[in-house]
Formats: sequence, structure tokens, C-alpha cells
Amino acid sequence: MASLTIRKLDDNVKTYLRLRSAKNRRSVEEEVRVILRELIEGREEPLTPFAVPPAASTAPTPQRTGAPPEASVTLIIGGGIAAYKSLDLIRRLKERRVEVRCVLTKAAQQFVTPLAVSALSHERVYTDLFDPQSEFDAGHIRLARDCDLVVVAPATADLMAKMANGHADDLASAILLATNRKVLLAPAMNPLMWNNAATRRNLAQLQRDGVALIGPNSGEMAEAGEAGIGRMSEAIEIANAAERLLRPPVPRPLAGKRVLITAGPTHEPIDPVRYIANRSSGKQGFAIAAAAQAAGAEVILVSGPVDLDDPQGVTVKHVESARQMLEQVQAALPADIAIFAAAVADWRVANEGDQKLKKTSAGMPPLQLVENPDILATISKLTDKRPPLVIGFAAETEHLIDNAKSKLARKGCDWIVANDVSPATGVMGGDRNTVHLISRKDGEIAVDSWPVMTKEQVAIELVAHIARSATEKPLEPAS
Ligand SMILES: Cc1cc2nc3c(=O)[nH]c(=O)nc-3n(C[C@H](O)[C@H](O)[C@H](O)COP(=O)(O)O)c2cc1C
Repeated sequence: MASLTIRKLDDNVKTYLRLRSAKNRRSVEEEVRVILRELIEGREEPLTPFAVPPAASTAPTPQRTGAPPEASVTLIIGGGIAAYKSLDLIRRLKERRVEVRCVLTKAAQQFVTPLAVSALSHERVYTDLFDPQSEFDAGHIRLARDCDLVVVAPATADLMAKMANGHADDLASAILLATNRKVLLAPAMNPLMWNNAATRRNLAQLQRDGVALIGPNSGEMAEAGEAGIGRMSEAIEIANAAERLLRPPVPRPLAGKRVLITAGPTHEPIDPVRYIANRSSGKQGFAIAAAAQAAGAEVILVSGPVDLDDPQGVTVKHVESARQMLEQVQAALPADIAIFAAAVADWRVANEGDQKLKKTSAGMPPLQLVENPDILATISKLTDKRPPLVIGFAAETEHLIDNAKSKLARKGCDWIVANDVSPATGVMGGDRNTVHLISRKDGEIAVDSWPVMTKEQVAIELVAHIARSATEKPLEPAS
């Protein structure tokens, strides 16, 4: 049996797994098992491009009541005056869809009550290491590990000293010693305590141990007439720092790139009411546009008539015919990457009627077809504004790979995404696709066959390939 090392997976996949497992409150390994089981049963969740809830923002997100939490935090409240700010911190974290379980030290209970903390967190509050109710199944270990992050606010001088020296004589310090999660400290203390050589030593040790810090800030102290560094950061600053650790910035490998994409069928008019069309739904091209946008690219999508909503953040040009599509494509240049996923009609009617064609005794009107412009070949062969990477799609019903290889040579593009669109595959109009990526590698033609995937997954995979190829070697035009 093969084994899988999650550490060695692609960064995008790891981010997706981490967020999905946090959302479902499972370990990453357990989440992988669930995904595999769902795949086999044919009901896996769709992959979100680059997998992601919105990046950390400085403004608080509006409360979404009833929405499931996306992450969980164990919040340890230490015995300092600033403990009252932690009540607000609980709210700020919950606004960000973070579930909060609170632990109060003995000293903290002198400043805030377990009742207030429990009412705000909507959870029971933990105070005692030797609590038979939560320790029957090693509750302190669960509090240490069944979360995505441990936050200590206020982090007293005493708690920092215990952490730096590995003490575990109460619930808070035992959790801090037992956790394998990232720890965020929000120190709060008198400036003399903060500047004391012992606190400096403890802080340096904690930083070496990889503990994250927010604050303290400078300002007035609770003690009359005292000011200096030692004020705990505001609740919103701590919540933002926690969010940054819980949701690291989304990778945007195509930031600064302009990507031009075509999608959908074209409609070639016969007369004002009739047209020649094909069965393309536009789903694959739209999914690529969404994935490229999520990867940070500026995206221009030129779409034939489709029944799809415009992807968010993408500039969409709606066209009907192949000639209009070419016009919009040329107008959108220059671009760094062009992906021609549209199913452009090869022919149009030469003798298009100005009026609706009528049945006559003379029989069927003779429809004469002429060839449409070849958008892929036209753009691939440009000498001035040719995008450095031009990707075509080959929809074939027979001899898929051979036809796609000769299309690559004939059209002069860099890559071809070949897919079998024979009716039995259900690709045209369907949600899944089986594709082969055909490219040139060291003068040879390479074929990379991908397993059956949803069109969104194909899009994410294609964008990841583009991003990798752009970093491996700067995009150069094909010869
Ligand atoms: C009124 C008052 C305010 C205090 N404020 C702080 C404080 O802001 N920071 C700090 O480190 N200790 C402060 N202390 C001292 C701590 O409460 C004390 O060191 C306690 O043992 C800390 O326990 P803990 O770290 O388990 O919460 C304060 C004590 C009192 C009486």
C-alpha cells in the first residue's frame, strides 16, 4: 500500500486541506480520508479556486449568525487588568467565524468572571486542571490540540515565565506545554515588569521557541500616573493577528499577469432569427477565468452566448460570432497568457439572409458556408503582440492525441489542452472533463494525461501549471 506525506504536497493543496479540515474540525489526515471516501462514493465537495475564505482584513467582518465556524481558538486569559479586553476579543473572534473555548487562570478570575466569559463564548469555561468533568478524557490535552491556534491574552509576566521554563502546574500552563498548535501571546504588564531582565530573557526564549507576539503597545497604565510600554494590544489588533495565523495569505502566483480567455460557442447567423451553433456550455473557459482571477491575474474573458453568470472580478466581453470574438480578442491584446477555450464555429453562412428565409416552392435555400477566421492560429502567428504563452483547446471525437499534436504544430501555439468530446463522455455541457496537456519540452512534444476531474479542478490544475511554468522560465514565444 502506498503512503502519503502531507508535508510534501503542493502548497495550494496543503492550504486547501488545512482550511477544509479546520472548517470540519478534523485532523488533516482524517480530512484526507473523508475526501477519498467521498471521491469513491462520487460526492466530493467542489474545490474552490485556491481554496479560500477571504484573506485577513483590518475591518471586522459582519456577524454571520448560524454560519458554521471556520476555525477554532483556545483562548487563555491570564490574571491582569487587561483581562476585561479579552471579553471583547471573544466577540471579535466569533465575528470572524472562529469558535472560542476559554481557559481562565485562577488570577484571571479576580478580573473577569467565568459566567461572563461563558455567556460571550457560548461555551463552558475551563478553570481547573484537576476537573473530573473534563479530565475524564484528558480535557487539557483536547484544549491544547483540538484547536487551530492558542491565544494568550493577557499574557502575564507570570504566564510567560512559566511557558519559557516549561512549567505545567495549572490548566493554562499545562495546555501551553502540551499544545502542538501555534501560540499567539498578547503580553500586558507594567512597563517595569516588561523591561525587567527576567521578562526579557523569557521573551527571548519564547521567540526562539517560535511563539508569535502581538504588542504590547505604549500608553498609559492602569496604575495612576504610569505610562510606557506594556499595554495589551486592542482586541481588534489581536483578532487580526489571530486571523493572519489562522488564514495565511492566499497564494497569488499570477499577480501582475494579464490573462485573455475565450469561452463558449459562437453563433453564426443564417438569417436574423436562425443560427448555426454547437453544444459548448462555456463552463470550462469560465472556470479557467475564475481560477486565473483567484490566482491574482487580471482576466479578460471573451465569451460566446452562454447561460452562465459572469465570474466575479473578471472583465467579460460578450459576443455572438467568430468574427466578433476575434475582434474582441485583438482589442484585448497585449496579454501575457492567452487561453482559447471557446468552441469557435469553423464555418459561417456566406449568403446570410437580411430577412427571415421563407419556405418556397423552390425547395430548401442553398446555404453556402465559408471558413471563419482561425482565432488560435491568428494570435499564435502574430509577430508583434503575440502573448508569450498561447494555449489552445482541442475538442476531438477521435484520434484525440494525434489530432491534438498536429493542431499544436499547425496553429503555432505553445500548449494544447485536448479533450474527448464524443457524446458518450458527456463533456459538452457536463461538469467533468478528462484532459491531456500537450506541450513542447526540450524540442519534443510531451503529453501529460490528467485523471477525470471537475471542470473547476481542471481549471485550477491548468492555472497551477501556468504559474509553475512562468516561474521555472520566463514565458517565451514559440518558434
Ligand atoms: C490589580 C492587579 C493587576 C495586575 N495586573 C497584572 C498585569 O497587567 N500583568 C501581569 O503580568 N501581572 C499582573 N498582576 C499580577 C498577576 O495577577 C500575578 O502575577 C498572578 O500570579 C498571575 O497569574 P497568572 O499568570 O496565572 O494569570 C496584577 C495583579 C493585581 C493584584
